[in-house]
Amino acid sequence: MTQATPQPQREARAGRDFLWGTATAAYQIEGAYNADGKGPSIWDTFTHTPGKIERSETGDVACDHYHRWEQDLDLMAEMGLRAYRFSLAWARIIPEGRGTLNGAGLDFYDKLVDGLLARNIVPFITLYHWDLPQALQDKGGWQNRDTALSFVDYADVVTRKLGDRVRNWITLNEPFIVADHGYVTGVHAPGLSDLALFLPVTHHLLLAHGLGLQPIRENVPGSQVGIAFSLAEMQPATDRSEDIEATTIADAYLNEAHLGAVLRGAYPEPIAGLMPEEIVQSGDLAAINGKTDLIGINYYMRLLVRAQTNAPGFTIADWHPGPRTEMGWEVYPEGLGHWVRRIAQEFPDHDIYITENGTAYPDVLDDEHHVNDLQRIAYLRDHTRAALEAMAATNARLKGYFVWSFMDNFEWAVGFRPRFGLVYTDYATQTRYIKESGRWYSRLIEAGAPDDV
Ligand code: FCB
Repeated sequence: MTQATPQPQREARAGRDFLWGTATAAYQIEGAYNADGKGPSIWDTFTHTPGKIERSETGDVACDHYHRWEQDLDLMAEMGLRAYRFSLAWARIIPEGRGTLNGAGLDFYDKLVDGLLARNIVPFITLYHWDLPQALQDKGGWQNRDTALSFVDYADVVTRKLGDRVRNWITLNEPFIVADHGYVTGVHAPGLSDLALFLPVTHHLLLAHGLGLQPIRENVPGSQVGIAFSLAEMQPATDRSEDIEATTIADAYLNEAHLGAVLRGAYPEPIAGLMPEEIVQSGDLAAINGKTDLIGINYYMRLLVRAQTNAPGFTIADWHPGPRTEMGWEVYPEGLGHWVRRIAQEFPDHDIYITENGTAYPDVLDDEHHVNDLQRIAYLRDHTRAALEAMAATNARLKGYFVWSFMDNFEWAVGFRPRFGLVYTDYATQTRYIKESGRWYSRLIEAGAPDDV
């Protein structure tokens, strides 16, 4: 019997042009929630509603990045970051969501972009990272198809202003989380809880993505446009056939609904059959399936799936065999490798970016202002290795990796407790301190290979 030829060990190494960066989102860092003409967003409303956020914390001030952006960009330059993914606060730019512009809001991002370019950091802009203008929520939010049309106007306005300098655009951050946490479980703004809202909201979000492609392409020469999906590794909790079947359903809801519509122009079953007919109008799926250049993978964890008799037919198990982060999320680096492989094999014409990956651990700032976060270094080493090995094995067009997050910030419903940053934020003084993981990441950027650092 002949023996299988041993596969050569693929080296986990990125080239010199690989875009190592960090990611943030406007509501989580900016603060200045009502400064210079900004309108309220659903997150302002939600955080100001008693009982919604741990310790009643809000993003009113957050990291005060709106006022401290220059020093934050200096820190990014000091760390050697090559790219920075951030989002725009729609209500800072168009306070009512549609209509009158707020010049001061747009100017803020204009200066931020110039500041990044002056420091040789490539900007990646996310248009929608969850902070819908409250005025649009008052008209139904993502339940209302019109919100997708307002998004198109907003995309047009900002790409006209910034498109001469910013090539990389991400329309939406994690449409699944918006629809699920915002409209089904209610743990995120706007805090509704009705499973029936999941499909209409999902469709209107994806429609915003699809219709938004056109103004971006028109206004941005050489644009690279895409969307960031929350892609968890899904596995059946047991080898019972019901759980295996339930995993396929869960994959459809969490992953394939979005991948399928955007990249194949069709919803998978059972989504396609359940989508209310009046919601999907003729031409919608063609628009949603418009040309995209890049696929953003936001990867954090493995989810184990069990069958459930009531809708939607699956549930996520609340136990995990592996170690967990402070969020309770299982550390499972192989899952990131699986996603790079799956996307590279199914959509070989697209560039891939890991648009978010990172972890919260209970960091301690010592008397010398050091944070010796060795667990985070191990997490980042294991995940970057998995991603780069998958790239080498499949010739994936993996072009960059963004750590979530640049600095500790406002982690939505759980407030400031989980610290995800490479930079420690001392919220009392707004002083920033680079953690050991931040220093490790700078060395990784230089070396290009996690095992050489
Ligand atoms: C992702 C979000 C991001 C951050 C991380 C921890 O789902 O996109 O804003 O909260 O989780």
